[in-house]
Amino acid sequence: MKTFTLTAALATTTALLAQPTLAETVGFAQIGSESGWRAAETTVTKQEAEKRGIDLKFADAQQKQENQIKAVKGFIAQGVDAILLAPVVATGWDEVLKEAQEAEIPVVLLDRMVDSDKSLYLTAVGSDLVHEGNVAGEWLVKDVGDKPCNVVELQGTTGSSPAIDRKKGFEDAIAGHDNIKIIRSQTGDFTRTKGKEVMESFLKAEDGGKNICALYAHNDDMAVGAIQAIKEAGLKPGTDIKVVSIDGVPDIFTAMAAGEANATVELTPNMAGPAFDALAAYWKDKTEPPKFIQTESKLFTQADDPQAVYETKKDLGY
Ligand code: AHR
Repeated sequence: MKTFTLTAALATTTALLAQPTLAETVGFAQIGSESGWRAAETTVTKQEAEKRGIDLKFADAQQKQENQIKAVKGFIAQGVDAILLAPVVATGWDEVLKEAQEAEIPVVLLDRMVDSDKSLYLTAVGSDLVHEGNVAGEWLVKDVGDKPCNVVELQGTTGSSPAIDRKKGFEDAIAGHDNIKIIRSQTGDFTRTKGKEVMESFLKAEDGGKNICALYAHNDDMAVGAIQAIKEAGLKPGTDIKVVSIDGVPDIFTAMAAGEANATVELTPNMAGPAFDALAAYWKDKTEPPKFIQTESKLFTQADDPQAVYETKKDLGY
């Protein structure tokens, strides 16, 4: 009887030990789905989590900071092992980040930055947003040479770090080139619909577009909307009005292949891969990652075989 009990106990212990360890749970407070790039980031984050056996809890904030804050508080209450946060705007995060810190839940920022103290988050994964604007501006400087060029600018979401930094980067690049001037600048909220709407108003205000030499859009989606507006105004985007933007989504490569857009600065949608790698090291032995993990920013122009680039991107979840 004793032997039987011992054998049964050993069997139970062995079975328990053989069970896989519980998967880490990560909450992802996403902004929404305002752009093709954003949709791709969501898809890639889910794929990267699945690859690593991470249980990802996803919250779509529909572009509202209050919803994102609610989602983060909810993740804290659930006791997740980490939180990914793509902050819609840069300010207003201190309180909720402190709550996460008090609960000892590491927070990783994805693609956008916050104004809060760096000690309140583990790391941030993203591109150098000022540099992106700079690359776009330098492309235009080179392309127009000494010719006069009036630029209209479609800004991203007001108060978001990419809108602030991409504006600055572009302005820095054209500074000292007196032939290039930004004559109108307004937010298009990173969406195609708003990009089209605002471009229509720019065209109207500038003699049907005759005074405009180039459009700088803080993302490709707004550029795609604006391209439509330019065509409807009877002008040729890419020729009558040059188009330079940021993201590198498949649709902008289609526009480039058709000669309707000129250049884009690519932003990888895979911010989650480096974020999960940093978290794995942190979970293992509290290894602190660098405060900023920078992704690449690459310029593509019509000379880069846009149709071929489109083919490599079209099935990636954009
Ligand atoms: O934060 C990154 C930006 O957010 C992307 O460039 C834009 O498309 C998105 O909405």
